[in-house]
Amino acid sequence: MSTQVSLEERFQARIDAEQKIEPKDWMPEAYRKTLIRQISQHAHSEVVGMLPEGNWITRAPSLRRKVALLAKIQDEAGHGLYLYSAAETLGISREELYNELLSGKAKYSSIFNYPTLTWADMGAVGWLVDGAAIMNQVALCKCSYGPYARAMVRVCKEESFHQRQGFELLLTLSKGTPEQRAMAQDAINRWWWPSMMMFGPNDSDSPHSAQSMRWKIKRYSNDTLRQKFVDMIAEQIKVLNMTLPDPDLRWNEERGHYDFGAIDWTEFNEVLKGNGPCNRERLAARRKAWEEGAWVREAAMAHAAKRQQSV
Ligand code: 3HC
Repeated sequence: MSTQVSLEERFQARIDAEQKIEPKDWMPEAYRKTLIRQISQHAHSEVVGMLPEGNWITRAPSLRRKVALLAKIQDEAGHGLYLYSAAETLGISREELYNELLSGKAKYSSIFNYPTLTWADMGAVGWLVDGAAIMNQVALCKCSYGPYARAMVRVCKEESFHQRQGFELLLTLSKGTPEQRAMAQDAINRWWWPSMMMFGPNDSDSPHSAQSMRWKIKRYSNDTLRQKFVDMIAEQIKVLNMTLPDPDLRWNEERGHYDFGAIDWTEFNEVLKGNGPCNRERLAARRKAWEEGAWVREAAMAHAAKRQQSV
């Protein structure tokens, strides 16, 4: 038992000393399992997250908007691949990861179970959803697990373009006709609260946070990152001359932060249970893509095997 304690104590001492843990290093099984859970769900979120935006590629109002949207969606696919690769360094196969998503066993971010109803949603998603993701992912650049932290550095560079193109899209609409302004405000109203849920449950209801913070997987708590997000967006929305759908939002001089209203955790939990507006549609789309892509996988494997024989 004393050897096991020294291994875990030595591991925690490395974490406390801000050393990066690499795939071949000893790590507690629970640390490895937590990372597989979080990184795989992060990867699933990137891949499923392409679906709501893909809905608008053929309907973008200009070539410039179409190119920006295509570039963003292509980036998200790449983020998913970096993250699946990071998860594989922990000993799980790509096939297992996909099966966990397609079987409904693994989660992906609740935010992607909402529909994108108008063009303005592309702006709200870029500005709010990617804005929330950046808040979370910048912190993950300092995650104790090397492959995850390094994947995040590249992801964050691309996310900042995603957020800026979203905000610029809404800024354009905000200076447009009354109908365009109304479309932008409607999108903000629909995406605000689901974006707030992206940071996870309140700290008091988060079963993983305490341990993830001890292991420096998580560098800030869910509520801390959510507050930083509110403080940022509450200022940026002034530039759009629009409002957030929260009558309780107000600057609190004493706290040095914005106060904000209660999040509807019933809605959050319903979406997590699979009862969100688009859960079934999203999983069906992923399953269809998997089935229709079987021939590509088989051809690639046959080609690789043939190449191997000729070596
Ligand atoms: N959607 C779905 N599930 C969520 C969730 C959300 N918004 N927030 C929390 N959960 C789940 C957790 O996964 C956990 O369930 P599990 O035990 O089955 O995995 C449970 O709710 C309890 O939550 P905790 O706060 O205790 O869990 P974590 O410590 O894992 O914290 C998290 C949740 C903050 C989302 C953390 O997992 C994390 O930072 N993940 C990495 C970032 C990420 O996945 N972001 C998703 C969006 S990616 C994106 O937006 C792409 C961008 O390009 C648009």
